[in-house]
Amino acid sequence: MTEPLRLLQVGAGSMGRAWLAAIRASPDVELAGLVDLDAGLAREAATGHGAVVTGADLAAVMAEARADAMVNVTVPEAHRDTTVAALAAGLPVLCEKPIAPTIAEARAMVDAAERHGQLLMVSQSRRYSPTLAAFRRLIARIGPIGTVNCQFFKAPRFGGFREQMDDPLLLDMAIHQFDLARLLTGADPLTVSCDAYNPSWSWYAGNAAAEATFVLADGSRFTFSGSWCAPGLETSWNGAWRVNGAGGTATWDGDNPPTAELADGTVLTGEVGAEAEGIAGSLAEFVRCVREGKRPDSAAARNIVSLAMVEAAVRSAAEHRKVAIEEVLSETT
Ligand SMILES: NC(=O)c1ccc[n+]([C@@H]2O[C@H](COP(=O)([O-])OP(=O)(O)OC[C@H]3O[C@@H](n4cnc5c(N)ncnc54)[C@H](O)[C@@H]3O)[C@@H](O)[C@H]2O)c1
Repeated sequence: MTEPLRLLQVGAGSMGRAWLAAIRASPDVELAGLVDLDAGLAREAATGHGAVVTGADLAAVMAEARADAMVNVTVPEAHRDTTVAALAAGLPVLCEKPIAPTIAEARAMVDAAERHGQLLMVSQSRRYSPTLAAFRRLIARIGPIGTVNCQFFKAPRFGGFREQMDDPLLLDMAIHQFDLARLLTGADPLTVSCDAYNPSWSWYAGNAAAEATFVLADGSRFTFSGSWCAPGLETSWNGAWRVNGAGGTATWDGDNPPTAELADGTVLTGEVGAEAEGIAGSLAEFVRCVREGKRPDSAAARNIVSLAMVEAAVRSAAEHRKVAIEEVLSETT
């Protein structure tokens, strides 16, 4: 039997707790070390995981824990430095989304992974869902794609930083839907036209709503329509999706089994399998890729495109112009 992969987790905040539970539930991995700026928090969060090295000093814990890989669940501002330190020490890294706050920082992380010959994968947990997998199988039945539409309407009262930041919907949420559009189409985005705004009743300081249209390399369009201050008839957290192709249309409400109607009127219901869900799914894919030396779809060098979609949409809205994704991707500062 293969020995469990020994993991060093950095970050023991709210998402860090979810990762600790996923690590505990997986027979493929075990926790070897846990780092947080708050050493007491790390010590307390590691309780029940057996002999785990904990502390606030990443280098010291890394030296003592002898881990095989790192899971990075720190805040985005800390992703680059902690990830590069682990890559330099010879550890492959699974990093929470967004890979970094800026393209330049993300690019430095991609370069470090290449320089040290280690896998750097970004965890886009919404890619892992049995009903999404069923939706992808239905989309494969409707031929070349013309239009992908996602409606995201919710009314969460977060309090805290999201209610103060600029463009909370685009920066904190839409990367999930933009990344899913890449997964569903398999096509690279070329340009975006985006209008971001704040409804008069919004409880956010920044723009809580946006309309964005992406032109994709295969000629199709991805349109995103969303608001974080839209009470009533809320969509799921994945959003409500409609994909139109040459041979029919498929829809998915983001939670339940998808359906499709083919051009001849045949109605199909997606068959839902037993794929791993959420961060358990991304952890399983990371372990598989580390063991087999494979590159996942969400390897950082590819995932950076999803971050560029967000940055380009924000710029398009601010400067009232269509922005090429390449313009953002090619920036180094
Ligand atoms: N996939 C999802 O659906 C999802 C949901 C929530 C959060 N996230 C992501 O997870 C990450 C963490 O978010 P969170 O909500 O847990 O934040 P959080 O603020 O609750 O926790 C972050 C923790 O990281 C620690 N930390 C910060 N800098 C550090 C450093 N340099 N070294 C060691 N520890 C450090 C902090 O002390 C804190 O305990 C973010 O990237 C966030 O976007 C993803």
